[in-house]
Amino acid sequence: MTALEKAGAQPTRLGGTALYDWEHLVQEDRAHRLIYTDPAIFEAEMTQIFGGTWTYLAHESEIPNANDFITRRLGLRPLIIVRDSEEKIRALYNRCTHRGTTLCRFDKGNSKSFQCPYHGWNFLNTGRLRGVPWPDGYAADMRDPKYNLAQVPRVESYRGFIFGTLNLDALPLAEHLGPITAVIDEWLDRNPGGRVVVCEANRFRFKANWKLAYDNSCDGYHVAYSHRSLLETENRFAGENAKGMAYYLNSPDTQPMYMRYTGRGNHYKDKRPNLEKRPGGLWALESAHPGMEHYEADFISRYGDRALSLLDLAGSEPVNINVFPNLSLLGNHIQVFEPVSVDETNAIWYGTMIVDDGSIGADGVRDINALRMRTQEGFPNFGEVDDIANFEQIQRGLMAVEDEWVYMNRGLGIPDRVKTHDDGTITAPATDEAFMREHFKEWKRLMQMRTNLAIRREP
Ligand code: FES
Ligand SMILES: [Fe+2]
Repeated sequence: MTALEKAGAQPTRLGGTALYDWEHLVQEDRAHRLIYTDPAIFEAEMTQIFGGTWTYLAHESEIPNANDFITRRLGLRPLIIVRDSEEKIRALYNRCTHRGTTLCRFDKGNSKSFQCPYHGWNFLNTGRLRGVPWPDGYAADMRDPKYNLAQVPRVESYRGFIFGTLNLDALPLAEHLGPITAVIDEWLDRNPGGRVVVCEANRFRFKANWKLAYDNSCDGYHVAYSHRSLLETENRFAGENAKGMAYYLNSPDTQPMYMRYTGRGNHYKDKRPNLEKRPGGLWALESAHPGMEHYEADFISRYGDRALSLLDLAGSEPVNINVFPNLSLLGNHIQVFEPVSVDETNAIWYGTMIVDDGSIGADGVRDINALRMRTQEGFPNFGEVDDIANFEQIQRGLMAVEDEWVYMNRGLGIPDRVKTHDDGTITAPATDEAFMREHFKEWKRLMQMRTNLAIRREP
């Protein structure tokens, strides 16, 4: 049996978010500055969105063995994501039930139990309280489930991506993700065995609201301007052969790339149609990396006709897949946004490796992964610094209180430019802001939703 505890209705402070008119704050063509600057709105988001909908927590490859754990967050809640002794994946609250301190101070490890650093209460990795120091000092029955760790009541994976929600009314994960799973499948299935393994990460912290990163995740309008130095670097030695994202430089809307909104705040920018469809078509776009000619010659001598398809596995996949509110698959990276406060956010870029499923052989996989680490040092990491500069400067700009609106109306109202398809998905040219208008409808729905949130404890 499972012990569920309903999360109480959020206390509504006078002057809190209950007084906001959400329809006014987010309109079809514009959003109010307060949604990025108001601490009360941020606080409500930490329950309504980070908790109220499925949020990405971690990747299964980060906890491959029984008793492996990593520490992560769901909004501001510190969590321990653990594969328990019976291999069940759980999201435990990293918060001692005694006096509330964080229980585990490590980023990752392997342990059957967690001992609180404060007074030494000890918890099994199922969340159950195992024992307390000098128990005869307690008259209470310390086997009462209320002393067991809180945990996220619903934790589900989609092909290795672990999500959690506190919302008992949320749809099952795969149903919630809906059509975005098709492009996640494609992103995975281009790799041997349809899998990736997550590596260490490149970590950024920026002084701006988390939504500015999500608003940028499918933005094809800024590339030629914000990333000009990156595009120039990528193309410095390229001659006639345009490299990287050079397809953004001239009339990007006439290119075959496009954006698609798939519902629930999820969208992707598909730049794959810009490629030549041939083995090596992706590799041909890679800009200069140290030693790449050596790798290429070596692959051709060892793998002959297969070499170019194998080199494509090291190339940065030209698609941005964004799963609201905090996950982006960009190139070969898994990017996660972690809100810290209304004007501070972590952006964490996990590298990925391919896995030896026998079709390439261990040596080939090792070489592809070595090269893949080099390509992952280029885009999108080099682009992120440009984007973060924009996010921080927007946050500064939004301090101008009387100038209230930001606009997201590119493509709006032009006949036949934004198309709604039979399956309900929406497509538009690469530079349109249709994705942003749509994810804000989901944001607004969640902010106004009557939530049915709960935590769970082992009985
Ligand atoms: S706070 Fe954890 S044992 Fe006291
Ligand atoms: Fe960017």
